Amino acid sequence: MTERPHRTTAGNGALSERRPPSAPETDAAPAPRLLPLGQLLGAWESEAQAAFDARTKGVARGPVSGLASLDEALGGVLHPGLHIVHGGPGAGKTALALQMAGTCGVPCLYVTAEMRPLELLRRITARVTGTYLGRLKSGELTPADSLAKARQAIQSVPGLALADACDAFAAPDWLREAAVAVRGDGRHVLVVVDSVHSWSEASGVDLPEYDRLNAAIGALRALAGQLGCPVLGIAERNRASMTGGGLNASAGSRRFEYTGESVLGLSVDEKGGTPPPVGETPVVLHVAKNRNGAAGKRLRLAFAGALQRFTDLGTA
Ligand SMILES: Nc1ncnc2c1ncn2[C@@H]1O[C@H](COP(=O)(O)OP(=O)(O)O)[C@@H](O)[C@H]1O
Ligand SMILES: [Mg+2]
Repeated sequence: MTERPHRTTAGNGALSERRPPSAPETDAAPAPRLLPLGQLLGAWESEAQAAFDARTKGVARGPVSGLASLDEALGGVLHPGLHIVHGGPGAGKTALALQMAGTCGVPCLYVTAEMRPLELLRRITARVTGTYLGRLKSGELTPADSLAKARQAIQSVPGLALADACDAFAAPDWLREAAVAVRGDGRHVLVVVDSVHSWSEASGVDLPEYDRLNAAIGALRALAGQLGCPVLGIAERNRASMTGGGLNASAGSRRFEYTGESVLGLSVDEKGGTPPPVGETPVVLHVAKNRNGAAGKRLRLAFAGALQRFTDLGTA
């Protein structure tokens, strides 16, 4: 274990201190900018060009969720900034984020601070190959057959890389370097952090949970800004909102809902509606906050747990 430095402030840099030995040094904190409006025209032109190319040539404008009704609700793509998915334990947050990571259409860095990389690959393999998770663990497949399925899964998500942050803290600077490497020559990358709570806990900073989470959220928002890309943060749900969800249901800090580009709440669909196929659970993804479209929509999904697969059933 490396020694943990102690911090006394809760600024965005609070999580930058403890980094793996291979990680780069922290850049100077960004300075505020004085901006006569005309200086925005360069950025405006490149955005207009990107939107035009997306429409006329089918060039990706950014990562999509791969769920049609969610993409429509969020304005077509996951826009740059911090997006939050919260839900109770076992709601399927990891499954949803992993599916989005694999179907987003652009390179993706999936930072896992809870679930081991091999289990994530097993989940990807279940979804991609249509093999029940249990069968991938039971020994009923020959090693060769099992490996063939894993290879098939890997080939179907060529742009996806995992960052294993289960035993070591992935500092913001390390994440930025990793995301740039994963993005390669392309324009877009999606960064997923599963979960923001676990990731920030691993930082080892000596702060109360509220301040630590604030620092974590600030750091992820800054990361999104530096990369010009969306960061999808998985958030635990606070106890009071465990069943009801809502905008302020993320545990530990109000900054989740204030900072988020979108806030999505994942819950079992208690109201029912048309039941999904056998073996699937009806879930609802509530668009509690949305800076790129209307908020308040309730998107109906079916979750096949054994296959770790979500399908879109439309808007409730
Ligand atoms: N072998 C399996 N068979 C059926 N469902 C499973 C299996 N493994 C996991 N699941 C489902 O996946 C859910 C866990 O999803 P996960 O994405 O890990 O949840 P979260 O990240 O929200 O805690 C479980 O609650 C269960 O419904
Ligand atoms: Mg999870």
